[in-house]
Amino acid sequence: MAKEKFYITTPIYYPSDKLHIGHSYCTVATDTMARYKRLRGYDVMFLTGTDEHGQKIERIANGQGMTPKEYTDKIVVGIKELWKTLCISYDKFIRTTDDYHIKIVQKIFKQLYDQGDIYKSSYEGWYCTPCESFFTEHQLVDGKCPDCGRDVELLKEESYFFRLSKYQDRIIQYMEENPEFLQPNTRQNEMINNFLKPGLEDLAVSRTSFKWGVPVEFDPGHIVYVWVDALSNYITALGYGTDDDSLFQKYWPADVHVVGKEIVRFHAIIWPAMLMALNLPLPKKIFGHGWLVINGGKMSKSVGNVVDPNVLVNKYGVDAIRYFLLREIAFGQDGNFSNEALIQRINSDLANDLGNLVSRTVGMIEKYFGGTLPAEHAATDFDEELKAVALSTTEKVETAMEKMFFSDALIEIWNLVRRTNKYIDETQPWILCKDESKQAELANALYHVAESIRIISVLIEPFMPNTPEKIRKQFFIENGEATSWDSTKTWGILPVTLKVQKGETLFPRIDMKKELEELEAAIKASQATSIANQQKAAQEQKAEEPETPAEITIDDFCKVQLKVGEVLESKEVEGSKKLLRNVIKIGDEERVIFSGIKDAYAPGALVGKRVVVAYNLKPRKMMGEMSYGMILCAEDGDGKLSILTTDDPTFRSGSDIS
Ligand code: ME8
Ligand code: MG
Repeated sequence: MAKEKFYITTPIYYPSDKLHIGHSYCTVATDTMARYKRLRGYDVMFLTGTDEHGQKIERIANGQGMTPKEYTDKIVVGIKELWKTLCISYDKFIRTTDDYHIKIVQKIFKQLYDQGDIYKSSYEGWYCTPCESFFTEHQLVDGKCPDCGRDVELLKEESYFFRLSKYQDRIIQYMEENPEFLQPNTRQNEMINNFLKPGLEDLAVSRTSFKWGVPVEFDPGHIVYVWVDALSNYITALGYGTDDDSLFQKYWPADVHVVGKEIVRFHAIIWPAMLMALNLPLPKKIFGHGWLVINGGKMSKSVGNVVDPNVLVNKYGVDAIRYFLLREIAFGQDGNFSNEALIQRINSDLANDLGNLVSRTVGMIEKYFGGTLPAEHAATDFDEELKAVALSTTEKVETAMEKMFFSDALIEIWNLVRRTNKYIDETQPWILCKDESKQAELANALYHVAESIRIISVLIEPFMPNTPEKIRKQFFIENGEATSWDSTKTWGILPVTLKVQKGETLFPRIDMKKELEELEAAIKASQATSIANQQKAAQEQKAEEPETPAEITIDDFCKVQLKVGEVLESKEVEGSKKLLRNVIKIGDEERVIFSGIKDAYAPGALVGKRVVVAYNLKPRKMMGEMSYGMILCAEDGDGKLSILTTDDPTFRSGSDIS
């Protein structure tokens, strides 16, 4: 019988000279799923790659005196090295600069144009090049960019538009009929209520303001919008639209696109609309995972809080890092990264629970039986319970893995690890060994522990690619019948005359205090190099960006007065695409504050919410009216905004923030 196929993807990454542990998280999780499915007998296609076009790359490359392609070539080498370090078992690595990809993106664009899903139109406005944004006349402040204060130029940009609006109802219907489509479930409601129901606008899918992208074949001044280019990778990688599309025929639709939560919108709305327009089936599942945060903030290079996965892997080994990432954070939710939590997990779960289980078992078999168990075994009172736990673990792991709940799967496996340690404490081999008449019971007890370890070595394999081998070597377990997934559902596969041989310590215990100091130093050093590189790159960059001081004193900071306000009104502004006119209650006072957040919040959506207001900001005229202060928002790398608020819902408007 032909194997069932499983097609899984990561996002394609923007080339960056330092991918951090946050990027690694997404890729490690996807890899774990791919390994799991292979172990289950699936024919797996695991795709990853790089998203190399766009103005930002063009600028950075120029700044370093390279062509964009020279620049990304260099970066991609480093990314592939990192994936090797992390044991990422991708089947294909796509680059959006690959010829076959470019050709098919052009073909897709042309087809959509020919069938009327893409049409030519234009938008006009004041353009700020550094911000890559258009503004209306009214939005300008003293004739300059309202966001950065720099000069703007009047541009009428021709653009091709994709009829996204046409697909809105079909996407809503699809989501409602397929509640499993977008995971975790809450993300689906968010998409429907925040984006689909309020109405989709047609999407500008070409640019003329820069060159580094896929040219529109029939209108060479235009290049294809980077998201249309990027999303297509999931099918161009399979040879879609080429003479040999056998991989596409075999693997599409994808079984799951794994993506970070900030790009769910692109994958759950734009991508399905594109596929509908192309008359192709939609991916079966999109999983929007959470972020790895540091002290509550998203890791990002510009914030300088990145953690270098190479430093961590060098210190603790790749299996420990992979274990930590998948165990510590529930996939789908945000999770905090800290060195302390990492060391804690390594010491307790890996060194203590698993490492110790293996080393003491091998040690006892060597000590009591010279390394080979005798053939005669006799049952103990504790066998059945251990067997029952061991044989029921696999099914629980399978259930968790189907939902991609990696941490739940690991919790189940570690229940078995701990249960096995408990079994040793119950059977007390160190007492049995003293009694000549108990040798058969002793042999049986150690055999049971070894069988359980064998099962554990299979269950952890998707998560920890190197540890199973290290365990099996010590028990002379050959890969094959005793290491297949199904073998975890059968008890008694190891030979009764089991042999062992002591091997290396799987996970050495770490001195927390000493290690934390060293780790801080190593990470600082690696950040310093990366920051120095960035600064060098920035200096070399031609764009004359205004200097932003790296540090401010607490006195500087205290000049900003922040207050909690409650939104009373939040309305559209005629003639503005981005702005909302908000009336904010701050204590007894009501203020008008304009805010460029219409992309993120529909008119009215903020009413009743508490926001944080920069209170003593100099009032300024916007859209012909004065605006008194600013509503604080978080902005992620893709320009998506989210308002800041207080954790405690009873905080009154007017409260100071310190
Ligand atoms: O978005 N924690 O690329 P990208 C968890 N090129 N995940 C993180 C993270 C963190 N701290 N930081 C980044 C892009 N990621 C586009 C994708 S797909 C057709 C195009 C994740 O390099 C992030 O959530 O900015 C995203 O899923 C992935 O890294 C790539 O991010
Ligand atoms: Mg991003």
